[in-house]
Parts: sequence; C-alpha cells; structure tokens
Amino acid sequence: MSKALVHPRVDAVGEATARRDGATFLAEVELRGASAAEADARREFAADVARDLALRPKRLQPKYLYDALGSRLFEAICELPWYRITRAERRLLELHAGAMTDSIADLTGVIELGCGSGEKLALLAGGMRRRARPLRVHLVDISPAALDLSARTLATVPHVSVVTHRAAYEVGLRQAATSPLRHGATLVLFLGSNIGNFHPAEADAFFRTVRRALRRGDGLLVGADLVKPEVDLVRAYDDPLGVTAAFDLNLLVRINRELGGTFDLADFTHEARWNAAESRVEMHLHCRRSQQVAIAAAGISVAFEAGETIWTESSYKYVPDAIAARGEAAGFACGEQWIDADAGFAVTLFRVD
Ligand code: TRP
Repeated sequence: MSKALVHPRVDAVGEATARRDGATFLAEVELRGASAAEADARREFAADVARDLALRPKRLQPKYLYDALGSRLFEAICELPWYRITRAERRLLELHAGAMTDSIADLTGVIELGCGSGEKLALLAGGMRRRARPLRVHLVDISPAALDLSARTLATVPHVSVVTHRAAYEVGLRQAATSPLRHGATLVLFLGSNIGNFHPAEADAFFRTVRRALRRGDGLLVGADLVKPEVDLVRAYDDPLGVTAAFDLNLLVRINRELGGTFDLADFTHEARWNAAESRVEMHLHCRRSQQVAIAAAGISVAFEAGETIWTESSYKYVPDAIAARGEAAGFACGEQWIDADAGFAVTLFRVD
C-alpha cells in the first residue's frame, strides 16, 4: 500500500481534529502490520484511557502497567529490599507448601490468576507431598511476557503440564474451570497481594466469581499484605531507587508510544500515599504544571492543572480476620491462615465445603 502515513498530531483546537487524527493513528498502527487482535486491544486501551482521564480525580487502569517493560520493572520491584511481599510469600510457600496442598484431597488442577514469574507455583507444586496424578496448571495473565516466563519456569517441574490463558482473571478463570480435562479437585491461587489491588466491592465480587467457578472439595489460596507502619507501607510503593516510580511512569510512556500521546515525562512524578481511612496505599502520577496533553488514538486533549494527579493503583492492606470474612461472605469456609509476622503478610486457604 502506497498511502502516505500522516504523523498523528492533536492540539487543543477541538475534538473533530483529534478524532480524525485518532483514526489516522490507528490506521497507521494497522498499516505497520499489527494483527487485528492487537488493533482491537489498542482500541480498547484508547477507549479506557479516554473514559478514565475524564473522571475526577483522573484515573488510569492498573492492568495497563504491565506491558513488556512494565512486567520487567515489576519483577525488579519484587527484588527491592523495601518491597517485602514477594519474599514473605515465598517463605510461607516454602515452609508450608505441603500443608497447603494436603488440605485439598485429590488435587489435580491448579489455576493461578495473575501468574507473575511462575516461581511461587513451582514452589507449591514442588512441595506437594502426595501426588497421585500429574498436575495440570492453568496460568491466567494479561501479560504475554509473564505467561512466557511462568511457563518456562514451570517446564522444569516434573509431572506438571501447563496451559496458558492470556486474559483478564474472570475470563481466564472461566476458560480454565470449564476445561473438559477438569477432574479431581482444583486449587485457585491468587497470590502477591493482588487481592489488595481490588476495591472492597470488587474484592467481594472476585470472591463470589471464584466461588461460582468452583465445586465442593476445591480450594482458593489468597496471599494478602497486612496493615503495618505507614513509613514501611509508603517506602514499599515509593522506593529510594525509583524503580516503582519508573513502573508507574511507564504507563505514560506506553500511552505515548501506543496511542500517540504527548505526555512530557519531566512534568510528572510518582507518589505513594497511605490512606488510613480506606486502609490502602494509593499510587498517583502528580502533574507539576498546568498543561494540555493530547492522545491521538483516544481522540482527546486533556487539561491538567498544576498539582493534579492521575490515580493509577491502590493496594489495600488487611488484617487477617478481614480476609477471612471476605471469603466467608462469598460462601467459602475459611481454613488455615499462615502468617509471616516479620513482614506482615498472610496466606489464607479457603475451601468449598
Ligand atoms: N499486588 C501487589 C501490591 O499491591 C503488586 C502491585 C501492584 C504493585 N501494583 C504495584 C507493587 C505497584 C508495587 C507497585 O503490592
């Protein structure tokens, strides 16, 4: 095709220009050879960004933090001395993998929602004491990089076969739970304090969704970070090396690259705040000076005031009883809780009785 490519440019002149340029931008993306699925994903990303930046306060959805670079940066966060969740959870899994898996009789399938690196699941599978049959593992993640890494990690664990689902939790869970190969009992893993990234009503809905996908004898294992002193909480999400800041700011880099945005990174800084009333750490991107930011593929030009923020992520912190109560409200029976008192982290087992 010989059509000349117009470089997307949007200014504050008006929506009509922005829309036309947005269409041009997406057409250009398709001409560059992106698949139809990629083009769909990009259109959805553009629509979400347009909707969320129109909210007060402005928002962006955390799922978009995890492109290839974002996933790598998240891996780096997990190594930071100030971010203790990953190591605390790993310790609990190393110590108690046998007890965790023993409590589900005839365990033949594991579904991990938000699989990360696959390392924790490898620990759990490796620590199973009774393994009557091979273990079928379903990995559900939005990030292809995370799925690849996890599948490679698990390839080294004997008797484990892996199915990957590049999907949001709910869709992937449905695919995995309705697999014709399902037999025996299933254990769903929701680790890394990902439950903390849901607002309370979403967390309740999540427990109900998992409960509906499971049958009697199945289980759910949830890792959740616990309330602790504010300094520790804030440092975990705003580290002195600036890795978490890079992770958060990469969302703007991604909008610039994929949606033709004009965010000037020098004007935005990462911020972590402890909101005690809501029991959550909030991550925001703080805008230093007033300006217009255009996003071609979203067909918008957005006004920012100095000091205004984009709220990108929340991480709710729990007390052990509150986690148990959430699961019980959805119809689960709360089994054992394993707690790392030093880091303040809990892994809770729920059963379907
Ligand atoms: N669920 C983890 C948490 O809330 C992971 C996470 C999500 C995270 N977003 C983050 C960690 C941003 C650091 C920074 O801690």
